[in-house]
Amino acid sequence: MLLILDFGSQYSHLIARRVRECGVYSEVIDGNSSIAKIKEKSPSAIIMSGGPSSVYDDDAPKCDSELLELGVPVLGICYGMQLLTQMLGGEVKHYDKCEYGKTLMQIDNFENLFFGIDSEITVWMSHGDSLEKLPEGFEKLSHSENTPFVSIANKEKKIYGVQFHPEVTHTQMGMQIIRNFLFEICELEKDWDMKHFIDEEIAAIRAEVGTGKVLLGLSGGVDSMTAAVLLHEAIGDQLICMFIDQGFMRKDEATQIVDTVDKHFNINLIHVQAQDRFFKAVKGITDPEEKRKKIGNEFVRVFESEIAKVAKDVKYLAQGTLYPDIIESASTGVSKNAVKIKTHHNVGGLPDDMQFKIVEPFKKLFKDEVRKVGIELGMPEKVVFRHPFPGPGLAIRIIGEIEPERVRVLQEADDIVMAEIKKAGLYRDIWQAFAVLLPIKTVGVMGDKRTYCHTIAVRSVSSQDAMTANWTHMPYEVLEAISSRIINEIPAINRVVYDITSKPPATIEWE
Ligand code: XMP
Repeated sequence: MLLILDFGSQYSHLIARRVRECGVYSEVIDGNSSIAKIKEKSPSAIIMSGGPSSVYDDDAPKCDSELLELGVPVLGICYGMQLLTQMLGGEVKHYDKCEYGKTLMQIDNFENLFFGIDSEITVWMSHGDSLEKLPEGFEKLSHSENTPFVSIANKEKKIYGVQFHPEVTHTQMGMQIIRNFLFEICELEKDWDMKHFIDEEIAAIRAEVGTGKVLLGLSGGVDSMTAAVLLHEAIGDQLICMFIDQGFMRKDEATQIVDTVDKHFNINLIHVQAQDRFFKAVKGITDPEEKRKKIGNEFVRVFESEIAKVAKDVKYLAQGTLYPDIIESASTGVSKNAVKIKTHHNVGGLPDDMQFKIVEPFKKLFKDEVRKVGIELGMPEKVVFRHPFPGPGLAIRIIGEIEPERVRVLQEADDIVMAEIKKAGLYRDIWQAFAVLLPIKTVGVMGDKRTYCHTIAVRSVSSQDAMTANWTHMPYEVLEAISSRIINEIPAINRVVYDITSKPPATIEWE
């Protein structure tokens, strides 16, 4: 296992994913973790991540100097390299001005880390401080016009540092550099793939659950669907799935979920038709937070009462929780004083007298790995690569009051957006795309007649993890096809606009 010490970089999770893509299991922990905790994990290699701090900041994250005495190979990236330099007696100079973006790097030493790499490559930089003097026993591996020590090494101790980010795609041959660290320097073995994971997880689920029954709440998203298929593979009919249709799903999505789980995989499914309850719960509500809370509470109530019908037989509750949800790291653990932007809801708040044991087969996986598990388990691609969909569904894409007719209009518009994006071959490259129904009416003209109808906003973003997102530079032809189909096929709409805001400052969903 390779351990990533997270010093707050926005790329720490990306490093973990890159390492896993190379076939080596990796975990992320807080860079401030005690040396005892690090030893407990017995890592075969360590990567110290980047981070926003300067080593001279009063509250800069630090780690125990014993880390570099463990005899385990270490790669410091950006802040990680500056920190290890300082820990080993080298000199880091503080600059107020940042070097940010693509930089040309010249390689001085092609052994180990840069084996097989071109003599000059473009790398992605994002740093203020720079190395001034190397620690004893270190040599320079590469430089750039402005930075004399872009990468350094103590080959004997297997301690390496790079000022750039090999994990981002803007760095040329970055994956080769990571592979060189893992296999040339650390001599690790490729033993992490999804086939192994499935075999191990099935055995672990069987051992834990025995003959007990497991209940799984299905949302229709890839995580819970894949968890259902994996659990079914492990324990067959001991698995009971529950899908609560709140009436805010995409067009035909509820049918697809039922078909996939019930018909395609023959899994026990309780399909709860709760549309009326949810419409009643949100009637007249326009405030986004209130909407979310009402839907969240109603969800828990329906889940509760449905569970009560089967609960006496069920001991375990399975959830499709992913690794980023439970990761204990500096970059995700700073939310103590963070301002709440939106109430996200998943299943929670179950009554105390229902004491389930929790089964979370994907708690070590990233979303792209869950997708690989899904493919390995023979799930249809259209399910495995489905865009993320929020718990409250279309309700938070209808600005203003939610009524069944408005949901129907939005479902039609959304279906057109999906169809055109798929037709253009863009679906897999886009993180999320959807339509939003706006409560404003504008004037138009159709067939010589004046119209006064509602507006649809189209939103499409690219993202790695939904924490940040860029609006998609969608080809005009696709936007044109979407717009003209929506106007022609949906009489309630006479105007279509495209959302060109990134996150931040906007969020992905409109509410
Ligand atoms: P925002 O709008 O906060 O969304 O930029 C980030 C990601 O989260 C999804 N999202 C939700 N997912 N329950 C969920 O399971 C929710 O209540 C919820 N709200 C937003 C959103 O679709 C995007 O992928």
